[in-house]
Amino acid sequence: MPTVASSALQVPYSRIRELAEIAMSMDGVLKLYFGESNLPTPEYIKRAAINALHEGYTFYTENAGLPGLRQDLADYYRKLQGIELDPQAEIVVTASGVQALNAGIRCVLDPGDEALVLTPAWPNGSAIVRMANAVPVEVPHPLCEDHYTINFDRLEAAVTPRTRLLIYTSPSNPLGWVATEREQEQLLEFVWRHDLWMLADEVYERLFYRGSELGAPAPSILRKAKRDDAVMVAQSFSKTYCMTGWRLGWLVARRDAGRKATQLNEYIVSHAASFTQRAAQSALVSGEGEIRKMLVRLKENRDFCLAALRQMPRVTAPSPDGAFYLFPRIDGLTDSFDFCRRLLEKTKVGVAPGVAFGVGGEGSVRICYAAEREILEPAMERLAHFLRGRIKPQPH
Ligand SMILES: Cc1ncc(COP(=O)(O)O)c(C=O)c1O
Repeated sequence: MPTVASSALQVPYSRIRELAEIAMSMDGVLKLYFGESNLPTPEYIKRAAINALHEGYTFYTENAGLPGLRQDLADYYRKLQGIELDPQAEIVVTASGVQALNAGIRCVLDPGDEALVLTPAWPNGSAIVRMANAVPVEVPHPLCEDHYTINFDRLEAAVTPRTRLLIYTSPSNPLGWVATEREQEQLLEFVWRHDLWMLADEVYERLFYRGSELGAPAPSILRKAKRDDAVMVAQSFSKTYCMTGWRLGWLVARRDAGRKATQLNEYIVSHAASFTQRAAQSALVSGEGEIRKMLVRLKENRDFCLAALRQMPRVTAPSPDGAFYLFPRIDGLTDSFDFCRRLLEKTKVGVAPGVAFGVGGEGSVRICYAAEREILEPAMERLAHFLRGRIKPQPH
């Protein structure tokens, strides 16, 4: 009997999804387990997609995406990050951030190669490495006082002759950690010295609370990297523009990798949907006002949840600088999946188990605070009761 390929068997089931499936079988759950805002896509983007359909954007496009969209992305980087990119060669539009990760990883890993992955991290990076028949080697971010950081000694110790790639996420899902300039320099120096590729997942670039003003992006690694460095950046329209269901992202890469990712696109999805690409042009050009409004709300939510968590027994809640997650540690917690399941069943609060985010994640839970206050307030109250052992039963 033919069996499923071992590279496919090695890909673990998502433990966030496992929790979500239990939650989806229940009514009235306060859902804080998925990584998406509950705001719908802004009207002007929806209208742009409808117009694009009427204008005839229903045919195949270039594998690298519409030239106009790539030009708008290059303009966006010039304006927001102060960097020049060649839209013809260094930008590839993808059908989601996940696909940008996939194409980037496929471009640089051979079977048996190793990729260092800074964790806790969204599990897809490690899973895609496995799908490429390669090996993810997870290196945890240590928590120093109330901020996560990078342990460069551990990173050095994890390098072997098979290491080819370093993957990290900043702003981080689930930590909210944002690489400092010094950390960016050290990461670049590390990959230069070991002759590695770097893949920076920057899909939360615009959800940044430490900038000179709200709306300023988290500084991209592309500011410090030279254009001929072995550096790639995975990006997405999902989080910044509330477009999770549209499946649209992009990859910035050194030109040889950009060319190869474009070619691989042909065999993965050929290209992202034509009319969504056209709508994304409107998002880039007209989105700044909506982004600022969203950030004001997210920052208030973050501060509310952080203050609530810090009143709870057994909880250490590090300060996040970006994304829309909190990743509190719960003293004495050794099975975060079981904790989340019990919390869900007893209180109808759904949060993601830290174990889902790889090495260093166990003992914590992830809370996505991109929800209304009417959801966050009872969720924090019920979590506090649960941790105090005073559970208010919820109606079935
Ligand atoms: C760190 C990170 N990277 C990439 C993605 C992918 O985003 P999408 O595939 O929706 O564009 C996500 C989504 O949750 C994420 O959290």
